[in-house]
Amino acid sequence: MAGTKKLFIKTYGCQMNVYDSERMAEALGGSGYDQVSSPEDADMILLNTCHIREKAAEKVYSELGRFQNLKEAKPDLKIGVAGCVAQAEGQEIMRRQPMVDLVVGPQSYHRLPEMEAKAGHGAKVLDTDFPEEDKFEALKARPRARRGPTAFLTVQEGCDKFCAFCVVPYTRGAEFSRPADRILTEARDLVDRGVREITLLGQNVNAYHGAGPRGGDWSLARLIHALAEIDGLERLRFTTSHPNDMQDDLIAAHGTCAKLMPYLHLPVQSGSDRVLKAMNRKHGRDDYFRLIDRIRQARPDIHLSGDFIVGFPGETDADFEATLDLVRRVEYGTAFSFRYSARPGTPAAEKGERMVPDDVAAARLQALQSLLATQQRKLQDAMVGREVGVLFEKPGRLDGQMIGKSDYLHAVHVTVDNQTGDRTGGRTGDRAPALAPGDLRRVRILSSGTNSLSGALI
Ligand code: SAH
Ligand code: SF4
Ligand code: F3S
Repeated sequence: MAGTKKLFIKTYGCQMNVYDSERMAEALGGSGYDQVSSPEDADMILLNTCHIREKAAEKVYSELGRFQNLKEAKPDLKIGVAGCVAQAEGQEIMRRQPMVDLVVGPQSYHRLPEMEAKAGHGAKVLDTDFPEEDKFEALKARPRARRGPTAFLTVQEGCDKFCAFCVVPYTRGAEFSRPADRILTEARDLVDRGVREITLLGQNVNAYHGAGPRGGDWSLARLIHALAEIDGLERLRFTTSHPNDMQDDLIAAHGTCAKLMPYLHLPVQSGSDRVLKAMNRKHGRDDYFRLIDRIRQARPDIHLSGDFIVGFPGETDADFEATLDLVRRVEYGTAFSFRYSARPGTPAAEKGERMVPDDVAAARLQALQSLLATQQRKLQDAMVGREVGVLFEKPGRLDGQMIGKSDYLHAVHVTVDNQTGDRTGGRTGDRAPALAPGDLRRVRILSSGTNSLSGALI
């Protein structure tokens, strides 16, 4: 049944926020809201926010400022802030932006429908609890609508690692793993709705240890093997992992589970033992190298991805050189790098160690990003001539063009002539598009562009 009110959600931050936004929209669907793509049409605006770096957090306030006119023109408009900034700065948001009606933290959004009913016309509602109950259990069953070929599925939340720079343990709370049977049910349901690839999500996903269906905890590897049994589910991925939680069975799964894709995001943050220690990462650079060796033994063609922070307080030129050296040795297929941002309440920010000067940090970031870009391009170019699986997701801009993702997560463009392409069911005269979203096909890679590959169906 179509709703009567309109909801606009804007999502910042990580994939877990993308998943949460879907679930929040579904929860508000029960209150009569349909999602719309522009804030001007909305009866409710919800910002799902990220607190990881200062810039990300500040964006929320500038975005809210832009809604001032809308709120003045339409006093019934409800404005809500969700996600990690809501958790960290709920009261402050209410104070700084009086037009905000509702603040909801990442662990309490199952209460959103009740909160929405109470909020508005001067009534303010704030809920940033870490409730006892499991929000996923409290949320209603997911709707049956048809979906695209790929989906995220949160299996683990929170983090107990307390890296010295990071807000996540505070904004998302302690580690929690969803029971395996609930995840399997949700996955089967996604597959029934058209999904062919699922990315399992967790702030620390490889620390997954959810209750198994017949007692005892399941590891992430065990969960992956069980998910791989689902007919129609063709591909599995997981993110984000901590090096210390890469257990033997998970490493082995990369070699034995055909549906587990050869791509692994395994952040290391720095290549310097001294900095790793100060970051409280709880492992050294050699541990990381040994781990990478073992993963590559299990799956030699795996593409590795990582995250790096430059300019951590006290980072010297030699420390930074060690990071460059680590990158050269590992050879990443993709990587993300950030300048350190001091986050209130984290040990690194509270310690007051001398900050790396802005110009030095900026130069380091540039040097690292240029090395990473060169590596990324080299590995992408090396795909030319190879045969890869591609899961097609959407039409491209050109006639007959479809865009999909390779096993290694490269964007791949394929153009097919619809006149000569495959036909459906062999009925003569029927011209069906040769490729449709959701098709998983073998593709020969023919060329490598700036951010994508092009190929032809085999
Ligand atoms: N759980 C994930 C990371 C979540 S945050 C993990 O452990 O890998 C994503 C990335 O943001 C981190 O890997 C780190 O590189 C970066 N990051 C986190 N806090 C940061 C900060 N204070 N300043 C700069 N970058 C940060
Ligand atoms: Fe943050 Fe470290 Fe936990 Fe990742 S492992 S979420 S970087 S505290
Ligand atoms: Fe940001 Fe929260 Fe994700 S801080 S990165 S949205 S866990």
